[in-house]
Parts: sequence; C-alpha cells; structure tokens
Amino acid sequence: MKISLLGYMGSGKSTIGKELASKLNLKFIDLDKFISSKHQKSIPEIFATDGEIKFRKYEREALIEILEAEENFILSLGGGTPAYYDNMDLINQATHSIYLRLTPKELIERLRPEKSSRPLIAHLSDEEFPEFIAKHLFERRNFYENAKSILAVQEKSVKKIIEEII
Ligand code: S3P
Repeated sequence: MKISLLGYMGSGKSTIGKELASKLNLKFIDLDKFISSKHQKSIPEIFATDGEIKFRKYEREALIEILEAEENFILSLGGGTPAYYDNMDLINQATHSIYLRLTPKELIERLRPEKSSRPLIAHLSDEEFPEFIAKHLFERRNFYENAKSILAVQEKSVKKIIEEII
C-alpha cells in the first residue's frame, strides 16, 4: 500500500503521516526531510542559497526516487509538491493520494505562530499574511482537489482523522 498525504502548509501532513504509518506498520517518508538529508541543508537554507526554482527541481527528483521504490509507504508531501511539473499525475499513478483540507481561516490560525520558520511566508507582514494565505490556497486548491480522496480536517483529532483514513 502506498499512500500520499497532501495539502497546504500547516494541514498536519507530517503529524498524521507519522501516526498513520505507525498504526499500519508501514514506512513513513516526509518529502521535505528526504530532500533536506539528500542535500545536507534545511528547507529554509535551500530556499536562501539555491532559490525556489532549484528547490522545486530537488523536490521533483526526490518525489520520483521515492515513487519508484518497490516498498510500501506513507508519504507526506510538501505543500507545493502537487503544484509543480506534472507531479500530481505521478502521485496519483503511484499512490492513493489524500488531500487534508482546511479552510483559509483554519490555516491562518495554525500558521500564524510558525510563520517565521517557513520560507514562503516568513517575509510577509501581519497584515499581508492572511490575504496571502487565502489567495495562495485558492490557487493551490486546483491541484489538491485532484487527489483521490478529500478529507475535511476541521476540528478533528489526529486519532479521528486516522480512523477516517483507515
Ligand atoms: C512549501 C511547503 C513546505 C516546503 C516548502 C514549500 C510550499 O512543506 O516544502 O517550504 O510551497 O507550500 P510543508 O507543507 O510540509 O510545510
């Protein structure tokens, strides 16, 4: 079984992926961590030194490498992975993809405290930030909604989300 989790930054892909993998006894792969360890740099460092265009290339290469592996896994994608190249087609060919869906309001609340550690939103002022998230999510949704399943996260606990996925 190959399952991929996708959704905007802060939607819980890594937390849920890790728990789900342990529950199903499957290997857990976090795409951002995989890229970081391959390039020996954190994601913010890659953005700062190599830039976003190179990051998207590294992300694409890492995705292909993971999807081509024979083994089963739970894969947490990066928030932007489905929106570049034809990544979403590859993801759907190789895995059962699940979109963890949250509203802009829910995402703004979750992301506000950790804004500074995320390269795409760190530079935004407190006034610009909510507007950016709403607009960016609107664009990304077109990609996310191609997932094979859509799960409304709302106020559900991690346990409840995992039960729904299973
Ligand atoms: C990104 C999301 C991040 C990371 C990078 C770019 C995006 O992953 O890949 O900062 O474009 O939305 P998470 O969604 O896991 O935070």
